[in-house]
Amino acid sequence: MASSEEIQTLILTTLDAQGSIENTNTLRSAGGDPIPYLAVVGVLNSLASKEMLTYTTIEKDHYNLTDEGNEIADSGSHEAKVFNAVDAVEGISIAELAKLFGASAKIGQGKAFRNKWIKKDGEKLVREVDSIVDQTQQDALEIRKNGTHSSAATLKDLQSRKLIEKVKLISYKVTKGPKFSLTIEKQATDLTADMLADGSWKTQTFKKYNFAGNPPEGGHLHPLMKVREEFRKIFFELGFEEMPTNKYVESSFWNFDALFQPQQHPARDAHDTFFLLDPATSSNFQDMEYVNRVKEVHSHGGYGSIGYGYDWKIEEAEKLILRTHTTSVSSNMLYRLAQETKASGVFKPAKFFSIDRVYRNETVDATHLAEFHQVEGVIADKNLTLGDLIGFMEVFFEKMGVPNIKFKPAFNPYTEPSMEIFSWHPGLEKWVELGNSGMFRPEMLEAMGLDPDVRVIAWGLGLERPTMIKYGLDNIRELLGHKVDLDMIQSNPACRLDKKMGKELVGKDAIDA
Ligand code: PHE
Repeated sequence: MASSEEIQTLILTTLDAQGSIENTNTLRSAGGDPIPYLAVVGVLNSLASKEMLTYTTIEKDHYNLTDEGNEIADSGSHEAKVFNAVDAVEGISIAELAKLFGASAKIGQGKAFRNKWIKKDGEKLVREVDSIVDQTQQDALEIRKNGTHSSAATLKDLQSRKLIEKVKLISYKVTKGPKFSLTIEKQATDLTADMLADGSWKTQTFKKYNFAGNPPEGGHLHPLMKVREEFRKIFFELGFEEMPTNKYVESSFWNFDALFQPQQHPARDAHDTFFLLDPATSSNFQDMEYVNRVKEVHSHGGYGSIGYGYDWKIEEAEKLILRTHTTSVSSNMLYRLAQETKASGVFKPAKFFSIDRVYRNETVDATHLAEFHQVEGVIADKNLTLGDLIGFMEVFFEKMGVPNIKFKPAFNPYTEPSMEIFSWHPGLEKWVELGNSGMFRPEMLEAMGLDPDVRVIAWGLGLERPTMIKYGLDNIRELLGHKVDLDMIQSNPACRLDKKMGKELVGKDAIDA
C-alpha cells in the first residue's frame, strides 16, 4: 500500500497537472492500485489545514454481491440449476432434485415453475421450454462488474432476495487552495523566543489552531426568569421600586393579620397554607402598639370599621408559614412607609413592585403547582381613587401587550373595592382572568399609622400563565420540576411581552383560565 507521503505527492502532482481532481477514486498508486479512502482523507485533511487544497465529499451508492449472490454469479441461479437438472427427455423426480440441491431445490423449483420453464407430469418434473436465459446470473454479473445495475427495479428485487448489499462509497473532489504548492513547508506549532530574537518569525508559517470553539453550556435564563425580566422592565419604566422579597417564611401576622384577614378565614386553614413545624412560631414583633391596634380593629373595629367582632389571638399571628402571597411583603413595606412618614413628618408617595415565589397547599395538576410566582404592584398616594386604579391597570396591561381589559367586582379581605381583571383571549374566544386588584382597606392602612387621606391601590397576577402562553407550553410540569427539558431552557428566545413570539398557545391548546 502507498505510504501517506506517496499519496500526498500523488495528489499534489495530479492537482498541479490537471488543476483539479474530479474524483479521488480515479487515483492509482505506482503499482496501479486504487487508494483506500481513509488514507486519502487523512492526506486531504492535512493539506487542507495548510490551505494547499480544498475538497468536497462525493457519496455514491455501491452494491456488493452477498455470498449467495456470488455463488449465483459463478454457477447460475437456483432456478437455472433446477432447469438444467431436468433431463430434456426423461424429466426428473422431485425426490431426486431434492437429493441434488438440498434446501435450495424448493426455491429453484418454485421460480422455474413461475418462469414457466418446467411443469409437473405425474410424479415427475419435465421441461416446458427447450432453453433458458439465466437473467438472475446475468444481473449478478453486471453488479459484480459495475457495482450497480441499470435497472432500479432489479436492484430492489435483488436486495430483497438478499443477493446484494448496498454500501456507500466515499470519495472526494479536490481543487487547489490559496497556498497550493508542490512542496510542503514545515509549519511551526509554537512561536519561540529564538524566532523572535533572530527575526525568523517574519517568514515562518505557523500551524493553525484546529480546535473547535465550544460555547459555554451554562448561563441560560429560565423562561420564567425571562418573563420576570420583562415585567421588571415595565415596572422600572413606570418608576417603581422593587420590594425585598427574599423571605419565603413569613409570620401569619404580615401575611394575614396586618391585611385585615380574620383568623378564622378558610385560606389560613391547613388546606391552603403550609405551616412551619420547626420553628412553628415567632414572637419577634418590633412594634407591639401596632400589633395591638391590629388586634383592636379585628376584634372591635376602628377607623370607621365595625371590625369582625371576634377574639383576636396573638398565638395565631405568631404562626410561621410559607407566604401564600407577596402581599405579605407589601403590607410590611406599607407599615415601613407609615413609620418613615412619622419620622420625617412628610408623606412621600410610593410605587412598589415585587415578583417572587409564593406557596399554597393545592392539588397539583397540569396548570397548578404548590408554588408559583406572583407579580405585584402597589401605589400609595394621597386621595387616589378607583379611577386611578382602573386607569393605571389599562396603562400597565397595555405595556404587556394586552390592550383590552375589563373589570369585575370581587372580594379580598384586605381591599375594598376589589376587582378581578380580565382580558379577551382571541384563541380561546373568551374573557380570561389575568389578575386581581383593589384599594387597601382603611382598617389596614390607618392601623399602620398612615393618614386617612393616603390611599393605596394594588394588584397582583401570576407569572406562570403568561410564561406558558408565551413559550407555548400547556403543562406546567414542562416549565418547573424534574421533567423540564434542559434544551427548552437553553434554546428558548428572549421574551417581549408586547411582541408576538410565534409560539404562543392559541385555540383549544391554550391554558384554560
Ligand atoms: N394577593 C392577591 C392574590 O394573592 C393579589 C392582590 C394583591 C389583590 C394586591 C389585591 C391587591 O391573588
